[in-house]
Amino acid sequence: MKVGIVGMGRMGAAIASRLLGLGHEVTVWNRTPQKAQALASAGAKVASTPAALAAQAEAVITILSNAEAIEQAYHGAQGLLSGEVKGKLFIEMSTVRPENEKALAGKVKAKGAALIECPVGGTVGPARDGKLFGFVGGDTADVARAKPLLDQMCRRVEHVGPVGAGASMKLAINLPLLVFWQSFGEALSLCEDLGLDPARVVDIFADTSGGPNVLKGRGPMIVKAMLGQDTGPITFDVDLIRKDLRTMIDEAASQGKTLPVATQALKCFDEAAQDGMNASDAVTLPVRWMRKGKKK
Ligand SMILES: NC(=O)c1ccc[n+]([C@@H]2O[C@H](COP(=O)([O-])OP(=O)(O)OC[C@H]3O[C@@H](n4cnc5c(N)ncnc54)[C@H](OP(=O)(O)O)[C@@H]3O)[C@@H](O)[C@H]2O)c1
Repeated sequence: MKVGIVGMGRMGAAIASRLLGLGHEVTVWNRTPQKAQALASAGAKVASTPAALAAQAEAVITILSNAEAIEQAYHGAQGLLSGEVKGKLFIEMSTVRPENEKALAGKVKAKGAALIECPVGGTVGPARDGKLFGFVGGDTADVARAKPLLDQMCRRVEHVGPVGAGASMKLAINLPLLVFWQSFGEALSLCEDLGLDPARVVDIFADTSGGPNVLKGRGPMIVKAMLGQDTGPITFDVDLIRKDLRTMIDEAASQGKTLPVATQALKCFDEAAQDGMNASDAVTLPVRWMRKGKKK
């Protein structure tokens, strides 16, 4: 299939690599062109503009930082919707608010094309291996059309409602995950003085109700962070966490709801960013808190 992918960030590049590996004809575009070079070397075509990408593709995937980036990619000069896109399928995979996806779907429909959203759970490794968890929103017929491609990117695809529902579900899933990074730091500060081996501590948490799923995949990285070692390539950074928390809090406010725990976690992570950790991986956050609480 002719697939266009807009956004060669960590996730977009991993998804492009996955789809190239499965034999799709992949065209990519990125605002910063240098980041598309690795994919070009792996066999992807590089489009000069989003419009040129859309012209070549049957299905267009977008996975970008935030709503502003989506606005630029779809509606900017030479944006995805600036040319003829009738009959094409758009799959929007960024983590943004439901209202952003709904507004975009309306504009895509007005051009005679279809849009489904599929924000995902899972990070760079699962994206490269086709093991993401897709939270899908869209019309049933459009989702059925996208399903073969979604199944190649995701280990599990849950169609949870019309466009906007996927974004709601993704934000909900990320709330306990993101708050966990703070609560785990607080928990570590409680047991740190026992002087146990970090690998043993993480293993105990992972094998009890004190630990969520994320410890199974990311446990080794956390252990390295606790030992002060390099944790490897950054996959989910503190700025992304802060963006997701702000998005949840704004979404809740629009519904007349409050998220006190998420709000406090955001405050703690804002402090971490002010300390220069904005581009650090999530796994370093609990360790920062553990050390912060340590008696001098
Ligand atoms: N990382 C994860 O583990 C993970 C997991 C699940 C979901 N997500 C979600 O997936 C999305 C992408 O995450 P990521 O980790 O791949 O982020 P990333 O590495 O920071 O990449 C962000 C991408 O958005 C582009 N972008 C930002 N602002 C733009 C603008 N104004 N116009 C055009 N393009 C713009 C960037 O282009 P440049 O290269 O030019 O900056 C880059 O291609 C986010 O919504 C994130 O919440 C991430």
